[in-house]
Amino acid sequence: MFYETERNDHGLTYNPLKACVLPRPIGWISSMDAAGRVNLAPFSFFNLVSERPPLVMFCPNGAHVEGGEKDSLRNLRERGEFVVNLATYELRHAVNASAAPLPRQVDEFEAAGVTPEPSMLVAPPRVKESPLHLECRLEQIIELPGEVGGVPNHMVLGRVLGVQVRDSAIVDGMVRPERLKAISRLGYMDYAVTEETFTMPRPTAAA
Ligand SMILES: Cc1cc2nc3c(=O)[nH]c(=O)nc-3n(C[C@H](O)[C@H](O)[C@H](O)COP(=O)(O)O)c2cc1C
Repeated sequence: MFYETERNDHGLTYNPLKACVLPRPIGWISSMDAAGRVNLAPFSFFNLVSERPPLVMFCPNGAHVEGGEKDSLRNLRERGEFVVNLATYELRHAVNASAAPLPRQVDEFEAAGVTPEPSMLVAPPRVKESPLHLECRLEQIIELPGEVGGVPNHMVLGRVLGVQVRDSAIVDGMVRPERLKAISRLGYMDYAVTEETFTMPRPTAAA
């Protein structure tokens, strides 16, 4: 099968593009507006983009259900800090619930049934039930072309200031994925959970 994205001539029932880039990690982003109202939402257009400096990105695309930019992006413009909470299998229903198109004044921590816990370095709270948090300061908001909802897409770049990992996820000095059970997005309504891993040393330069 080959198709051109401009023509969308794949002949399949659903657009397969998101099923072709997999798995996509989920940044479960908590943020806060200037008035101190908190917000929580998952973003699978998310990743770590560099280690030095430690930078993450996520993309709030399309419009909020009430029009205009999504709350996560508006909050970042008002108060340039956010937390990436790890989305885990145990928390999957809460992660999904926090994506509901709710009115602006609704607190998604409450709607998703998770507990806001003060962060160490930034104002937005973290999700207490999540085993791993990246506390971030806004670095840059990059405007991207947008085709949905009459607003541009955006890429938010944040600098990771602090990393908190639950002690039980650290074994022999390493953060172990099988202790975290992170979930990620596949295509359609499918998700993956990271349980099986393998190790492969990097090749060295030929002598
Ligand atoms: C697993 C998952 C991943 C998502 N990824 C994105 C994404 O990368 N970008 C986006 O704009 N919306 C994404 N969404 C939808 C947003 O979470 C949803 O629009 C949310 O209501 C935005 O919240 P906000 O207005 O509070 O920022 C995703 C939803 C789910 C369930």
